[in-house]
This record gives sequence, structure tokens and C-alpha cells, in this order.
Amino acid sequence: MQVVILCGGSGTRLWPISRTLYPKQFVKLFENESLYQKTIKRNLSFAKSFSVVINQEQYFMGLDQLDELKAPKSQFILEPVGRNTAPAIAMAAFASKPDDILLIVPSDHLIENQSAYEDAVKKAQELASQDKLVTFGIKPNYAETGYGYIEANGLEVKSFKEKPDAATAEKYVKAGNYFWNSGMFCFKAKVFLEELKAYAPDVYEQSHKTFTHARVDQSAIRLVKEDMVAIRSESIDYAVMEKSKKVNVVPADIGWSDLGSFDSLYETLPKDENGNTLSKNTIHLGSKNNLVISDDRLISTIDVEDLMIVDTRDAIVIAKKGSTQKVKDLVAEVKKHN
Ligand code: GDD
Ligand code: MG
Repeated sequence: MQVVILCGGSGTRLWPISRTLYPKQFVKLFENESLYQKTIKRNLSFAKSFSVVINQEQYFMGLDQLDELKAPKSQFILEPVGRNTAPAIAMAAFASKPDDILLIVPSDHLIENQSAYEDAVKKAQELASQDKLVTFGIKPNYAETGYGYIEANGLEVKSFKEKPDAATAEKYVKAGNYFWNSGMFCFKAKVFLEELKAYAPDVYEQSHKTFTHARVDQSAIRLVKEDMVAIRSESIDYAVMEKSKKVNVVPADIGWSDLGSFDSLYETLPKDENGNTLSKNTIHLGSKNNLVISDDRLISTIDVEDLMIVDTRDAIVIAKKGSTQKVKDLVAEVKKHN
């Protein structure tokens, strides 16, 4: 199986750790490994090869971090600008043989249960060989509005709703037969391309044109900016998954978490007995449930609760836990002032 790693997001919700030129998936947040490296390692046992779809500015970072792991042969597809996941996946599909089975994986997740993950991938591969578009369903535990929701009837998907509003998400979680979409997918290259062509023909056509004009050398497929900017920006979720009749779901109890925001990062980091994240540069007196990340400065707190404090060389963010989805808006403000 060919594993396609998506790592074009700029990860603005983890600013200032995550920067345009140094996005979160490359930051070595865990035991000196980045999320991108964890993604590669998790797929090493069954990946025939890797395709990395990545912004051209991050090419060498992606290459270096891959080499550190001694991964098998990999192909890099370099995007001059991001056009979201539908075009990114289309490029990987165009670069494959029509019957190749692709496993699409984002580069900003943690998965704790490796053997359950491998089992889920095996099931997905079987369904993909029967021309299904396979999603991986995660049991929801709250009404997150940043995810896609899968209405399941066994393995069949009755409906797929990307990023519902809060009331709808509540309803789905209560109903009990909905999964979160994990953001990973498995399908034959040709099945994805056929469905993209059927439901988002403009995205398909312009992506195809862009791919055929790409400059290919031994190391990478380099997409051309003039072509790429003309592609409508669209995610696979809206372009294909909400519309296709071929979607299946493999329930995946794999210890999945999306590190999309500081709130979810807090949930996954080790903590002391007062719920403060463990960090060598931090001292808390009477404080509880705080997330503190610091490069090298000592951060100390007294009697504060539920704060997120992120300190880097040139920027500090202090936020209330629960509000960290707004870091994205903060970044937009910061850009206005610079
Ligand atoms: N190469 C490339 N180019 N990669 C991209 C681009 C792009 O233009 N845009 C996003 N990506 C990568 C991101 O880096 C990330 O690894 C992955 O594709 C998913 O993109 P996100 O922007 O993080 O999507 P999302 O979190 O809003 O929603 C998706 O993931 C959720 C679960 O984490 C959807 O699939 C939801 O349905 C899902 O619940
Ligand atoms: Mg995401």
C-alpha cells in the first residue's frame, strides 16, 4: 500500500510554536520526534512507499526528518501554494497507478494504539479493494464542530457532514450512530479521481492540468504556481465525502487525537498531580490545570487555573483553556499589525 502524507497545513492554531515556515507537524514536541515523524513511523510496517504532499518551502525539512527514520523510497509532491486536501490528494492519485490503493494520512495526529491502528488499516484496505472510499470512524465524546461527522449503518455510510454547527453536532453525538471522521482515508487512486470528477469537476480538471504541467525530476514532482493558484481551494470532505455514494467507515478505536489546537495538545501531554503539564522550565504554586510551553525561559505561576501559556523567543500567548480555537483569529490580527 502506498501511504500519502498530507502536510501542507500551516497549523496556525498552534501559533507561536507553529509558524508559516516551521509548521506544527515538524516541531519536535514529543520525545524529540515531530508529529510528521510519528506519522511515518506508524506506517512503516506496511507502507510500500510514501508520497509526501508538502509546501515547497518545507521540502528539505520534510526530506531531512524522513531520512532520520530510514524510511523506504519516497516521492515528494511540492505545492507552491496550498489548495486544501482535495487537490493535494488528487496530485498523489495522479502520480499513482489507477489500481494502487492509497492510504491518506494527515500529519498532525497522535494514535496511541498501534496494533488496533494496523487492524483498522487492514480492514480499510479490503474495502478499498472493492472500490469503496473508506473513512475511519472515531467514537465522539463531545460536540466538536471542527470535525466531520459520519452517520453509520454498519460499514455503510448513510451521510457525511463536514464541520456542523454546534446544535447539529450535539444532536449527532446524542444520536449514538455517528462517528467523527478521523481525516484518514483509504481508496484506489482511480476511485477517488472518478468521484472527484463527478462531484467537483472544476477541481478535478484544474488539478489534472496542474499535474500534467508539473516539472518532474528524480527527487520530486514540482507543481507550477500559475496552474496551482487557479485550482479552487476545497477539502476532500466537502468535495467528495459529503456527496459520494461509495463511502464506507471502519470504526477505529485506536487512541486517536487530533492536535488541532492547544486544548487538544493539553489533553495528550503528560501532567503533574495538579493537572499542569510537565515541563522542565515551569514552577507552579497552587496553580491547577495549566498548559505551559516554554523554549528556555522559566515560567512560574501562582494560584491560576485553566490557562494556556506559550512562550517562544519572540512571542508569548496567554489564553484561557477552551478558547484556543481562537488562536487562528489571533494570528490573523498579528499579520495585520506586521
Ligand atoms: N499538502 C497539503 N496541501 N496538505 C494540506 C493542505 C494543502 O493545501 N491543507 C491541509 N492539509 C493537511 C493538513 O496539514 C492536515 O495534515 C490535513 O491535511 C487535514 O487538514 P486540516 O486543515 O487539518 O483539516 P481539518 O482538521 O480542518 O479537518 C479534517 O480533519 C478532521 C480530523 O482531524 C477533516 O477531514 C475532518 O472531517 C476531520 O474530522
Ligand atoms: Mg486538522
